[in-house]
Amino acid sequence: MSPAMVMAAKTKQNDNLESQYQKGVKHLCENGINKVPKKYILPVSDRPNMKDRELINVNKQNLKLPIIDFAELQGSNRPQVLKSLANACEQYGFFQLVNHGIPSDVISSMIDVSTRFFELPFEERAKYMSSDMQSPVRYGTSFNQNKDDVFCWRDFLKLICNPISDVVPHWPSSPVDLRRLVATYAKETKYLFLMIMVSILESLGLVGTTENKTEEDDILKDFQDGSQLMVVNCYPPCPEPNLTLGMPPHSDYGFLTLLLQDEVEGLQIQHQDKWVTVEPIANAFVVNVGDHLEIFSNGKYKSVLHRVSVNSMKSRISVASLHSLPFNYMVGPSPKLVNEENPRGYKDTDFSSFLEYISSCEPKRKNFLESRKLC
Ligand code: OGA
Ligand code: NI
Repeated sequence: MSPAMVMAAKTKQNDNLESQYQKGVKHLCENGINKVPKKYILPVSDRPNMKDRELINVNKQNLKLPIIDFAELQGSNRPQVLKSLANACEQYGFFQLVNHGIPSDVISSMIDVSTRFFELPFEERAKYMSSDMQSPVRYGTSFNQNKDDVFCWRDFLKLICNPISDVVPHWPSSPVDLRRLVATYAKETKYLFLMIMVSILESLGLVGTTENKTEEDDILKDFQDGSQLMVVNCYPPCPEPNLTLGMPPHSDYGFLTLLLQDEVEGLQIQHQDKWVTVEPIANAFVVNVGDHLEIFSNGKYKSVLHRVSVNSMKSRISVASLHSLPFNYMVGPSPKLVNEENPRGYKDTDFSSFLEYISSCEPKRKNFLESRKLC
């Protein structure tokens, strides 16, 4: 073979591999692998640090997130719980929400139908592949598969959930009960989000007195009409989990994310300059502050970097429900939280500037939020 022919053959082989990877990790695993392909191997400095993990295992109690009891928040202890809530949003950017009132069968059905979706034959899942970020349904792999140099060990199904009656007919028709179960779950999480948001606004001193009742109603109305995106993540077992990640370090764009994880560990958050693993609590939600809430609170509440590690034993499913204001709304620091002591720290932003941002660069780390900061 001439050098040109060798080159051509190599390029073809690479193209073949590339198109294999675009089909996702589940597909890759179904074809049987015992090593992580080069495409998924992170540079040493970005790999999950096993030393960190050992450290965490020794001090297990250190990685417990603050727990907020939703039922208690609605009772006579509300002022106390609001303080814990504020503290969690300031110090961790994360908390576990228990006693939230969503029936456990709604939760188990959501995990169950997600599992069954990813067990469908590849051809069935592939029907929903799309590079259109605005599509009401999008099946894909990695973090940003058109941009990532190194791929992540994750496949996903993204479902836009608003307005619910318009979008449901676009969602996958298989498994047959997916639309019904996910719609129920979406409505329940939306209601819960609104209830948590009322508490968050109160904890920031923005609502909760009789004088600002109309203001409260106005903000709530905006959130009621707000955006909701559901991301169902599937992390298949990985033969060499130290070399790759399920998701790279990132922050979430919206006000709040309600994350449901099955019983398998994987979520890690950055806390006091260390990566710590969040212990799953059955039936609880991991709730985190997103970029929009950090901006809205003028930096009081923190949108914290998090990532996902994978393991060699078990497949993991998680469902993230991301909530914000309507897509075309501007988010800026609440005027009441800007004063001489706390000057305005961020530019106004909206969802389309975020989309533009992630389509124009690799959305790693906290670049978007950084780009909104006034120095
Ligand atoms: C996300 C996310 C964490 C997880 O979907 O944005 O951070 O545990 N997911 O899957
Ligand atoms: Ni996230």
